Amino acid sequence: MTDKLSKKNLSWTELGFNYIRTDFRYSAIYENGEWNQGSLIEDDQILIHEGAPTLHYAQQCFEGMKALTTASGDVCLFRPSLNWERMNSTAPRLLMPAVPRELFLGAIEETVRANYPWIPPYGSGAALYVRPMLIGVGENLGLKPAEKYEFRVFVSPVGPYYKDSGMAMISLAVSEFDRAAPNGTGKYKAGANYAGGLLATLNAQGIGANEALYLDSANNKFIDEAGSANIVVFTKDEKFITPSSDAILPSITRRSIMELAEIELNLMTEERPIDLRSEFQNFSEMAACGTAAVLAPVGKIWFDEKWHAMPGNENSDGSVMKKLYELLVGIQRGEIEDKYGWLHSINLGL
Ligand SMILES: Cc1ncc(COP(=O)(O)O)c(C=O)c1O
Repeated sequence: MTDKLSKKNLSWTELGFNYIRTDFRYSAIYENGEWNQGSLIEDDQILIHEGAPTLHYAQQCFEGMKALTTASGDVCLFRPSLNWERMNSTAPRLLMPAVPRELFLGAIEETVRANYPWIPPYGSGAALYVRPMLIGVGENLGLKPAEKYEFRVFVSPVGPYYKDSGMAMISLAVSEFDRAAPNGTGKYKAGANYAGGLLATLNAQGIGANEALYLDSANNKFIDEAGSANIVVFTKDEKFITPSSDAILPSITRRSIMELAEIELNLMTEERPIDLRSEFQNFSEMAACGTAAVLAPVGKIWFDEKWHAMPGNENSDGSVMKKLYELLVGIQRGEIEDKYGWLHSINLGL
C-alpha cells in the first residue's frame, strides 16, 4: 500500500464532532470583481486585516456537508449542489459575491481528494466533514461590504454530533431568546445567526437538554428549529409534518427526509406552522435533522417550566424516525440503491 492510500491511524469509531487538522485546504480570492483560480494550501491560519468586515460586521457565510466512504469504497458527498445553491442564496443577502459552481464543487473535491488519508473508512460511523466558507476580508472601517473575499474549504474527520453513535436520543429546551426575526437572516447560513445562539445553547444545556429549540419570534408559539438542526414530527394521526417558516435554515437533510417519508413510507407530509403548546398532545415522534445531527429523535422537550416526554419515541425500534434514519443513512453509505441520484461520487485519482 502506498503512502497516498494509507489511512491515518485514528480511532475512527471514537471520534467526536471536533476539529482535527488535516493536510490540505483550498483557498480562492475574489478581488477587483473576479475570482482567481484558487489552489490547495497547507496553512491552516488565515492572515487578514484587523479591519476586515468579517471580523466586525459578520460579513461571512458558510456551509457544512459530509463525505462518506460507501460500501463499495467510493467517497461520496450528499447533494452538494444544494449546498452550493444555499451559499449562493446567502451571499447576495450579505452583499458578497456568488461563488461559481465549478469553484465551489471543484474546491471541495480537491480538498477531499488531497486529504484521502483522513477520510474515515466504511463502517466506522465517522465521516469527513466539509466546511466551505466565504469571508469578507481586506482593509475597512466603516459599515460597508468588503472589496475582497476569501472562499476557503477545510475538512475534518468527525464522529457523531450527539455523543452516541447511530441514532442518539436527544432532548431540547425551548429558548427564552429568539434566533431570527421573521424578515431577518434566519433562512441564510450566516455566522451572525449563530453567535446569538451560543448563550441559548448554554442555557439549554444548563437544564440538561442537548440543544435549544426556538419558537417563532413574532408569536413565541410556532416551532422554528433547533440550534443546528431542523425539526420533523410524526403525529398521532399519522402525518409527517415540519414547520414552514421564513426564519429557519432550509435543511438539505430535512428536504431529503420529507421526500423519503412521502415516497418510501407513503406518509402524508405537510409543511406548515406547528403550534408547540396546542399541538404537542398530538405528537407521536419528533426528531432534529441536519448534516451533523443526521436524524436524532427527541425524547423530551422543556417548555413552560417542565419536561414534556414524547410518547412514540419510547419504542424507537419500530418508529417512523428509525425507518427514515435507516433509509437516509443506508443511501448515504451506499447500502441502499441511490435511486434519487443524491450521491456525488468524488474521483479519488488513486
Ligand atoms: C440552524 C441550522 N438549521 C438546520 C441545519 C441543517 O441543515 P442541513 O441539513 O442542510 O445540514 C443546520 C446545519 O447545517 C443549521 O445550522
